[in-house]
Amino acid sequence: MSFKIVEQAPARLNRSELAVPGSQPQLFEKAAKSSADVIFLDLEDAVAPDDKPQARKNVIAALRDIDWGTKTMSVRINGLDTHFMYRDVVDVMEQGGERLDLIMIPKVGTAADVYAVDMLVTQCEAATARKKKIGFEMIIETALGMQNVHEIAAASKRNESLHFGVADYAASTKARTTNIGGANPNYAVLTDKDDAGKRDVHWGDMWHYAVARMVVAARANGLRPIDGPFGDFSDADGYRAGGNRAGVLGCEGKWAIHPSQVALANELFTPSDVEVKKAHRILEAMAQAQKEGKGAVSLDGRLIDLASIRQAEVLVAKAKQIAAAS
Ligand code: GLV
Ligand code: MG
Repeated sequence: MSFKIVEQAPARLNRSELAVPGSQPQLFEKAAKSSADVIFLDLEDAVAPDDKPQARKNVIAALRDIDWGTKTMSVRINGLDTHFMYRDVVDVMEQGGERLDLIMIPKVGTAADVYAVDMLVTQCEAATARKKKIGFEMIIETALGMQNVHEIAAASKRNESLHFGVADYAASTKARTTNIGGANPNYAVLTDKDDAGKRDVHWGDMWHYAVARMVVAARANGLRPIDGPFGDFSDADGYRAGGNRAGVLGCEGKWAIHPSQVALANELFTPSDVEVKKAHRILEAMAQAQKEGKGAVSLDGRLIDLASIRQAEVLVAKAKQIAAAS
């Protein structure tokens, strides 16, 4: 291990993160009853400019009046390039009460963007003598944000998670997409001809680099990496495929832009019983190996060593966290 200890963000379940437009208060009660781990009430892109002031009022009332249970509550403020953002922070922080846990900052481009929001939030916390410290979720969804993702991840003690905002990221990088978060058949590898002259097309994951880069920045700073939206909510298999790819790379949750996606995300990011049992067996086998003075042994015909302990511990800790929350 490095001499530098990476401090971990508060341990929150973040398997599913449900987006709820602030301009649609009729959706709030249903969202509160959902099984989403995190809900973000949106003041940004799901709200038309003329509706922003009313959406802000709706969100403040919802934070005060609705029973959100044990969910983590977040509000997505508008971008720092708009004139809505300062009032989003000030009004929500001053009038929304103590229920809010996180502020989601969209289109973060530089560490200074995080610093600016931190300054405002810190003043609001002090002025209102707030007991609970607000954390930050940051959406990496521009070329600038992806370029500076490492500095952004380290920019504030409030930082808790990085989110891959694939829709805006595609717009910013001018990527050719077919639907939000989906694959593109043109991003493919053509195999050589086989004996019969036939060639196969293997679709690739055009988001691989972006998600992998964000995961590294998040983990190197003790933050949760979270995969963003998948637009076609009638395509559960497409959602699962994208979520699984992100999970394999290290993400610990995914957005739900429709209530039907909450259960899918919870399932994708909950370790299965088989995985948990295997992790326990690895820990037992390694405990025995260490008693015998061995650093590596074989289990089911495969090598396991001290790194296997760390992987198994991560999985067991996640399973415990989920069990404690349910
Ligand atoms: C989310 O905000 C996105 O742009 O994908
Ligand atoms: Mg966006």
